Amino acid sequence: MEKKNLDWENMGFSYMQTDKRYVANYKDGKWDDGALIDDANIVMNECAGVLQYSQSVFEGLKAYTTEDGHIVTFRPDLNASRMVDSAKRLEMPPFPEDRFVDAVAQVVKANAAYVPPYGSGATLYIRPYMFGINPVIGVKPADEYQFRIFATPVGPYFKGGAKPITICVSDFDRAAPHGTGHIKAGLNYAMSLHAIVTAHANGFDENMYLDSATRTKVEETGGANFIFVTKDNKVVTPHSSTILPSITRRSIMYVAEHYLGLEVEERDVYFDEVKDFAECGLCGTAAVISPVGKVVDHGKEICFPSGMEKMGPVTQKLYDTLTGIQMGHIEAPEGWIKVIE
Ligand code: PLP
Ligand code: COI
Repeated sequence: MEKKNLDWENMGFSYMQTDKRYVANYKDGKWDDGALIDDANIVMNECAGVLQYSQSVFEGLKAYTTEDGHIVTFRPDLNASRMVDSAKRLEMPPFPEDRFVDAVAQVVKANAAYVPPYGSGATLYIRPYMFGINPVIGVKPADEYQFRIFATPVGPYFKGGAKPITICVSDFDRAAPHGTGHIKAGLNYAMSLHAIVTAHANGFDENMYLDSATRTKVEETGGANFIFVTKDNKVVTPHSSTILPSITRRSIMYVAEHYLGLEVEERDVYFDEVKDFAECGLCGTAAVISPVGKVVDHGKEICFPSGMEKMGPVTQKLYDTLTGIQMGHIEAPEGWIKVIE
């Protein structure tokens, strides 16, 4: 298969229409067979549940070209099960997990020409999503849903790639206790837009959200979980019921413990102790591991000893091991890599 002639090395994190996408419809209490289609546009009623009451959930994962030329995805089964959790919380019918994994493979295969080559720094970002599509005017769940997956080649989420970023402590909240912070619902991102535009306007790359109940504990950013490294090389990540359970973060914690022999802790992380960490990073499918050099809290700066020029040494080891597993030059734990072709 011939690759598209794209500028793989200089891609940003943006949408490019690719050839095929997967669609399945839920009607009369069941999902239809689903199919790959060409049309990237969706026609729906003006009163569709997603348009009126934001009944939508989504996922994000990537396909990689490995060193030996295979195309693989990373732990798609975990995206499938997280989407079931998201759907249930918004009263949507779960899309079967085995069909999710199979549909991801179909979309990647059909768009193989857009999977960036090994070593280019780019990847194919895969976006499964699901939404209420029939007219709903009283506040209630839709009866009919559409599940879709498209794919688009992407470069780094933050401009500058692996260069440390500066984040600010947000004045806005991302998630309420007992709310929807732990699921991947579109509504969480809609309400983060004002916060991210404000952060960018003030010269910051991202927001650090604190827990909304007490504003004392670190939660996450708008699109990634945190990892911290202590001065004695322990890897620490916030534990919270109101953050998204990042697949990247869960993988990094495993890699830290089982590949690098580091001590790991998932626990409450108080904002007051952030100044004592040696390194800080954001982790997620889009972010991979993006180092944080500085956190600014209303004018007060916390500068990590790892600095603003490069990743700290432990973050770098975690990054190299995780991406080494994804790109196929480090052996993966059982079941992490799904070979597409
Ligand atoms: N937190 C939020 C709010 C996200 O949107 C994402 C992205 O998916 C993550 C964390 C990272 O999760 P994952 O590693 O599963 O991509
Ligand atoms: C991801 O990392 O896949 C995300 O969904 C984060 C962001 C692009 C919303």
